[in-house]
Amino acid sequence: MYEQASHSLLNDILADLGPEPGQPQWRHFYTRLGANFYAIHSLFGLLYGPRPDFKAQMGRLVETLAKRYRERPDELRDSDLAREKDHNWFLSQKWVGMALYCDRFADDLQGLRAHLPYLQELGINLLHIMPILDCPPDNNDGGYAVRDFKEIDPRYGSLDDLEALAATLRRRDMLLVLDVVVNHTSDEHEWARRARAGDPAYQDYYFVFDDRGTPDIYEETLPEIFPETAPGNFTWDAAMGKWVMTVFNHYQWDLNYRNPAVLIEMIDIILFWANRGADILRLDAVAFLWKKIGGVCQNEREAHLLLQLMKDCCQVTAPGVLFIAEAIVSPGEISKYFGEDAINAKECEIAYNATFMALLWDAMATKNAKLLNQGVAHLPAKLERATWLNYVRCHDDIGLGFDDGDIRRAGYDPALHRRFLIDYFTGKFPGSPARGLPFGENPKTGDARISGSLASLVGLESAIESGQEDAIDAAIKAIVLLHSMILSFGGLPLLYYGDAIGMLNSLEYLAEPSKRADNRWVHRSRFDWGKAEKRHETGTVEQRIFGALKKLIALRKEINVFADFDNRQMLQTGNPNLLVFLRTDPRHSRNHVLVVGNFNDAPQELPLNELGPQGFCLQGPLKNLCSGESVALDGDRLTIPPLTAYWLAHATG
Ligand code: GLC
Ligand code: GLC
Repeated sequence: MYEQASHSLLNDILADLGPEPGQPQWRHFYTRLGANFYAIHSLFGLLYGPRPDFKAQMGRLVETLAKRYRERPDELRDSDLAREKDHNWFLSQKWVGMALYCDRFADDLQGLRAHLPYLQELGINLLHIMPILDCPPDNNDGGYAVRDFKEIDPRYGSLDDLEALAATLRRRDMLLVLDVVVNHTSDEHEWARRARAGDPAYQDYYFVFDDRGTPDIYEETLPEIFPETAPGNFTWDAAMGKWVMTVFNHYQWDLNYRNPAVLIEMIDIILFWANRGADILRLDAVAFLWKKIGGVCQNEREAHLLLQLMKDCCQVTAPGVLFIAEAIVSPGEISKYFGEDAINAKECEIAYNATFMALLWDAMATKNAKLLNQGVAHLPAKLERATWLNYVRCHDDIGLGFDDGDIRRAGYDPALHRRFLIDYFTGKFPGSPARGLPFGENPKTGDARISGSLASLVGLESAIESGQEDAIDAAIKAIVLLHSMILSFGGLPLLYYGDAIGMLNSLEYLAEPSKRADNRWVHRSRFDWGKAEKRHETGTVEQRIFGALKKLIALRKEINVFADFDNRQMLQTGNPNLLVFLRTDPRHSRNHVLVVGNFNDAPQELPLNELGPQGFCLQGPLKNLCSGESVALDGDRLTIPPLTAYWLAHATG
């Protein structure tokens, strides 16, 4: 949009930048800056307008965008142009991701490069490398306490290694996802060190207080993220002689985005990694970006304004780069991280679908799909040009963030149901085969979350110990069923590194003092390459899981209706054990796939006539694409085996 005041300010800023931006290769930068400047100026004005240095800060921001554009490699600029043309590229069903720790999977970045064939064998073409930036050896929260945002941790390699890996990935048509920890730094970051040394400019990068006055007021309404290991949200720093806000661990200092210098630094960091070849940046803990007295300091309106600014700025310099919002918040809040009232994502193009993840786990414990159906029906709509990141497990705990109304509608009492889920997954509930651990238990609120590897949570660990074949079989079925859901639901499926070979919980973390208190490490163990080798031996657990997932991944890529064009319709059946949805090709409305998941451990009937008008697509002979076999109907009833999903299409189609 053209608006005179902002345009005239832009002219002043560009005049100050000197002659270089006038060169022909700057044409794209100019057009994008022209298109976004009104929004950038308005948002910056909303956040920082009253400051006397507003104009100077705006100038620094534009200078940062230009500086990073100047260094953006030609190859990446070309990729920006190609993605502008093919702007729906990331909605395609051809992408399947995996998140992994560089060191735990492959020692270092060079080793990771050498192991890419393993990922490609499975069909993975999007790689999320968990944080690899310089951080203290002990207090680092798995890399989420960054000491230097522009250096690779020497344990993993160098910037050259990362750039070499990014180049290899591009040649293999694989995408690279890197983390940018936007909410906090390590207490050993240079900014924190300067703050500690008494520099007021850097103390203004954080929330520091002389006494408990303000912290106590904040604490009245702030929840605790790690109540057991890091109670409270403020830490006394003896060297500084002040309190500092630390919402996560005591060594993770929250950044103060009321200071525009912080935002400009972070935009610079985002563009720095875009220029090193990241296709997608995972913005960590985005719900927490803005702090306000009297609230929970999550999902504040200003946090959204900051994300819009980050997006608008990234579009000027590196428009091909996408953002993933890591906002593990209530269903009603999650979709706001795409940006509201738009078609294109105004904030992050991709958001963790924590709601779907937690609902799938509910179905595992209850062996029915009652809450899953309720919750999915109330999953907020997303924008057209935005997509969910669907996952079963990740490096974090599983939070039971369901909507209480949905829990009641599914026929349960919210508090009792959550208690049941914790007991079930920690194996306390009679008959439960799960081997999870309670995480973040808070006696003050009664809250708890769950740690544990996928395989151990679905009972594979206990089944292997007892040697019961049927229990092993059920656990493998559950693993495949859960993956078949994230592969077909619509969105980007993200696998977690050990899950395709059924890696179990590992207690190795207990030997490391800095990890012992954080049981999320139980599901972050070293990748077991010996176990992975067994994927080649027919009949092993590893081969059964890996083989099934590999096949489903390959199938997903061939099934056009699985691309995410808001082409999913949930269907209600009379059977509470089933989750049923129809995926339709938006260009060929007669092209459908009906996905049916049976979460029960007994066979279940799907009465096709109850599917209503959508049943029409099911006339004629049907085929289960997962097995390639045609399915026999008993009248209008279809029987789905226990813990199994069918992807149904016309046998001829
Ligand atoms: C995110 C990360 C989590 C980390 C937290 C603090 O939620 O996924 O692992 O502990 O941020 O950085
Ligand atoms: C925060 C994050 C969530 C994570 C948790 C740490 O709530 O948003 O992702 O699970 O911290 O475990």
